[in-house]
Amino acid sequence: MAGPDHKLRQALAARARTGNLRQLSSSGVGIDFCSNDYLGMARSNRLRSRIDRIRAGHPRALLGSTGSRLISGNSAAAERLEDRLAAYHGAEAGLMFGSGYAANSGLLACIAGPGDTLIMDEMTHASSIDGSRLSKARKLVFRHNDLDDLTTRLEMASGATFISVESLYSMSGDTAPLPEMAALAEKYGAGLVVDEAHSNGITGPAGAGSVVESGLEDHVFARVHTFGKGLGLHGAVVLGSKTLRDYLVNFCRPFVFSTAPSRESLDRIEAAYELLPELDAERERLFSLVRHFRTTIRDSNFRWIDSQSWVQCVIIPGNDQVLATAGRLGGLGFDVKAIRAPSVPSGNECIRICLHAFNTVDEIDRLMAALENLQCADMSLQA
Ligand SMILES: Cc1ncc(COP(=O)(O)O)c(C=O)c1O
Repeated sequence: MAGPDHKLRQALAARARTGNLRQLSSSGVGIDFCSNDYLGMARSNRLRSRIDRIRAGHPRALLGSTGSRLISGNSAAAERLEDRLAAYHGAEAGLMFGSGYAANSGLLACIAGPGDTLIMDEMTHASSIDGSRLSKARKLVFRHNDLDDLTTRLEMASGATFISVESLYSMSGDTAPLPEMAALAEKYGAGLVVDEAHSNGITGPAGAGSVVESGLEDHVFARVHTFGKGLGLHGAVVLGSKTLRDYLVNFCRPFVFSTAPSRESLDRIEAAYELLPELDAERERLFSLVRHFRTTIRDSNFRWIDSQSWVQCVIIPGNDQVLATAGRLGGLGFDVKAIRAPSVPSGNECIRICLHAFNTVDEIDRLMAALENLQCADMSLQA
């Protein structure tokens, strides 16, 4: 009889055959064009000293939270921070989670159930997809950012209905038409859920996000702001009404059945939010690098996804090809990652280039020149 890991080996071998085997590698080698540390917060000495200052105010704080929020892990500090986050983003209430994955999956899994409908953009993140799977609601998927297709799905919906979108899509860098989506949600009595993972800290006034930027605070049902990307940390907050918060405290399983964040985590988040309003120069620098990238790529022969954001994708079709290109760029000192099918549709495999406030124009120029050289070399090999 085959051993218990026979099935696992077969699955791994199948992945390897399609050029899709995932392997851990150490990051941090080369120029960072792949991390989500868009504002450089993970390496910010200003943030570090603010964290130290806040921590010094309670040197004997417990090292861990000792339990879930409903058992022993709650604190006045956690509730104060949630009020502060809600106020920062113009929401009535907020509830923190250990990660964006837990927030998205837990939220979608519990707000809709049998007889209800979850309508998802086809590009939504795995954490939202997994939440929809757990929810037992009917799931309808609409074409990426397509308002007509969304309307068709809204016509088909029954029960409590929610629409799940991202303000900025992690695999393409493009943005959702939030005002139009909010209007449709209102027309059909649906709740709009916006994942702000990749916009938090960057878009809107003082980085408060795209919902605030569009003035839609009172027109969305829920927002998820993660701390692991623009804030350089870890964790997330779900924002919405006080009723939503009470509901999540009762029904959201990743919240109920998981250890609360430690005091140290709270300190870090508090410090990051203290610093965020002072980061206009970093945000402006990031926007100017995006403009430079767009000008450069428009003058090139590359296929790319037209993105106005810090997430840019240069299309190199084929899993093997895109992986080889990323590997060669790595050899030249650029830390970039290949995004392969099925994470993106086949034929749209790409090198995802994340821009950061700490990158330079020269680094971008050298990366694009290296990509162009590799492309020319490939074409001469094929000729
Ligand atoms: C769009 C989106 N939402 C949610 C998440 C999950 O957030 P976290 O990394 O905090 O679990 C990610 C992370 O990759 C993401 O890209």
